[in-house]
Amino acid sequence: MSTTPVKVAVTGAAGQIGYSLLFRIANGDLLGPDVPVQLQLLEITPALKALEGVVMELDDCAFPTLAGVEIGDDPTKIFDGANLALLVGARPRGPGMERGDLLEANGAIFTAQGKALNEVAADDVRIGVTGNPANTNALIAMHNAPDIPQSRFSALTRLDHNRAISQLAAKTGATVREIKKMTIWGNHSATQYPDLFHAEVGGKNAAELVNDQAWLENDFIPTVAKRGAAIIDARGSSSAASAASATIDAARDWLKGTPEGDWVSMAVVSDGSYDIPEGLIYSYPVTTSGGDWEIVQGLEIDDFSRAKMDATAAELVEERDAVKGLGLI
Ligand code: NAD
Ligand code: LMR
Repeated sequence: MSTTPVKVAVTGAAGQIGYSLLFRIANGDLLGPDVPVQLQLLEITPALKALEGVVMELDDCAFPTLAGVEIGDDPTKIFDGANLALLVGARPRGPGMERGDLLEANGAIFTAQGKALNEVAADDVRIGVTGNPANTNALIAMHNAPDIPQSRFSALTRLDHNRAISQLAAKTGATVREIKKMTIWGNHSATQYPDLFHAEVGGKNAAELVNDQAWLENDFIPTVAKRGAAIIDARGSSSAASAASATIDAARDWLKGTPEGDWVSMAVVSDGSYDIPEGLIYSYPVTTSGGDWEIVQGLEIDDFSRAKMDATAAELVEERDAVKGLGLI
């Protein structure tokens, strides 16, 4: 076992996602069984008592990989020296609410947290935003942290990516392991575009194998894009264990690299690839290595995909303009 613990900051730690996420990080699911982890947990003041209870439970698990836990309500203390910051805390969407409604409420949170990360995080910090509206919250944090390279910010579309893999596996009878090169383009919202035209099932092109445009358009895409709302309707609260699992998948693959012959979906700052406006936090197919990501280039985009990729970009432009109007970026 190495000796210096990796400092992982988690915000919204007393929330539903936190209750799944913390135990899995502490258990080594993110960094492996040989890397000690120091958890630094941020909450708002009224939730600190509940968080103390969660910390008692973490203690009671006696995880060999958990080197220590610090809690607090001041981001400049909790982000101090953080190597990885998982920004989960935000106001979750309730029944009937759209993500746009949440922009203003969450803007203040991500402005303050971006500034604090800029001031005190470790030089190698990576920042993953799960809290919704995730892409635009990441954009706000990034703009408020001018000294942190923009490539260190990403928003979570891995849950959508995993949902798409699961739907495709069910349709084709393949195992999850046989599915590669899934892509979610754009926003973590109902406008996202889950793309089967570049995905593979057992080495075969997924769209050709399925050969059912009606299923793709009327079933697959809406099922994946509206899964969050379906879970809210069924459970009465938003996805939590699956969101925590995807948050871990995303951070692990970012830090440890994607396997040869596959890629993952991550919302990262656009450099204009695929004619997406520069500077948006847009979900792309990426490969990762050594803690850095690279957008997969050269994929052929037909008219159907182009329209969907542009529609989700247009929504992100609207969100960006709204937060610009509010003076948040
Ligand atoms: P939750 O309400 O159970 O927990 C959120 C926690 O954040 C609360 O404990 C709250 O006190 C805390 N919080 C609020 N403001 C804070 C601040 N300024 N600093 C620190 N903590 C703060 O919600 P949840 O179910 O855990 O979901 C968290 C977020 O993740 C929501 O925005 C939800 O919509 C989002 N989400 C995203 C995805 C995704 O795929 N990107 C999936 C599921 C949920
Ligand atoms: C999800 O995708 O499950 C979450 O983002 C919750 C939501 O608001 O859809």
